[in-house]
Amino acid sequence: MTNHGYLPHNGSATIQDFITGTIKAFGMGLDLATFLAVYGAVFDGDLLSYSIGGQVSTLLSGLLGEPQGLSGSHNNGNKLPQVSQFIALYELGQDNGDSTDLDVLTRHRVQRFNVSISQNPYYFSAPFSGLIINSAAYTFVYRFMANKTAENPQGILNGETLKLFYAVSGDYPDFTITPGHERFPDNWYKRNPLDYYTIPYLAADALAMQLQHPQFLSVGGNTGKVNSFVGLDPATLRDGVFNAQNLLEGNNAFCFGLVAALQMAPDILSGLFSDITVALGLLFSAVGNATEGLSCPQLKSIDKGQFSQFPGYTGLKPDAEYRA
Ligand SMILES: *[C@@H]1O[C@H](CO)[C@@H](O)[C@H](O)[C@H]1NC(C)=O
Ligand SMILES: *[C@@H]1O[C@H](CO)[C@@H](O)[C@H](O)[C@H]1NC(C)=O
Ligand SMILES: *[C@@H]1O[C@H](CO)[C@@H](O)[C@H](O)[C@H]1NC(C)=O
Ligand SMILES: *[C@@H]1O[C@H](CO)[C@@H](O)[C@H](O)[C@H]1NC(C)=O
Repeated sequence: MTNHGYLPHNGSATIQDFITGTIKAFGMGLDLATFLAVYGAVFDGDLLSYSIGGQVSTLLSGLLGEPQGLSGSHNNGNKLPQVSQFIALYELGQDNGDSTDLDVLTRHRVQRFNVSISQNPYYFSAPFSGLIINSAAYTFVYRFMANKTAENPQGILNGETLKLFYAVSGDYPDFTITPGHERFPDNWYKRNPLDYYTIPYLAADALAMQLQHPQFLSVGGNTGKVNSFVGLDPATLRDGVFNAQNLLEGNNAFCFGLVAALQMAPDILSGLFSDITVALGLLFSAVGNATEGLSCPQLKSIDKGQFSQFPGYTGLKPDAEYRA
């Protein structure tokens, strides 16, 4: 987006820049664009703005360190795209008639989930990052990058388009990724303004994936060894409001993830701000607005104590929850 002027070229932008830019470039719904922009400014920025990569200095006082930007919050220390993972996704798309659709991305997610549990002793899936952000990371690829046309309003995402968005050059399987060279393809069409990608739309996509593969609903992690995944019972986490059955009803899983983000925020924010009042207020407002179209059940507190058995949580605190 910065390469094409949808965001300032220096990669540092205000909440309003992110909202306007994501709507204009991709057809993100105003509700989703606003929620993500505010969330980014709270956790990765100075409450007004944030950068897409790396630290930027800020005039705001009361920050306990330099804001890290998006690259500091997604996959700490491992933010560069991996060619092997791109190839795995590309191959699944080729096997599907050169079309990387939601089924393909769901298959890719199953593979990545498997690898995480079988290779990462510290794998941890928190309610917000696991139920919402992780889903979005897969659905966004198709919902935003597919080429939408009158004949194919949902869009077609072929391998060439996927390569351009991820700055991949070379012929399969000899791919090279050149970070900074990501671009929109020529003659590429975004979502129709009548069909922008909203929060209820994302919630429905996430639920479809979770119904197909209930492991995507697991909150928990490996306990210090590979293949040691312990899943927590949503009923004990959320005081009986949600359980394994009703988590798959309506927007419950999505609501659970949003509420958990709020519940866990004070821990995280106290590592970022000397006084968390303003940040927390912004977040409450953003989450409140985000739940508006979802008919979420009455919110109660969650039992964070149960997370202490996971080194992937305790090791990363105070910022484990928002790392996707
Ligand atoms: C980035 O560019 C924008 C637009 O030109 C400008 O307003 C902003 O101050 C710049 N930010 C930094 C951190 O340089
Ligand atoms: C990962 O895939 C292997 C091979 O298909 C399978 O045996 C194993 O149960 C899977 N593990 C998880 C955690 O899904
Ligand atoms: C998008 O689809 C249109 C209509 O089929 C086509 O003309 C255009 O080349 C496609 N763009 C890309 C980047 O594939
Ligand atoms: C939530 O919605 C209200 C009413 O539209 C708006 O005034 C407020 O700025 C929104 N909050 C956030 C954080 O976007």
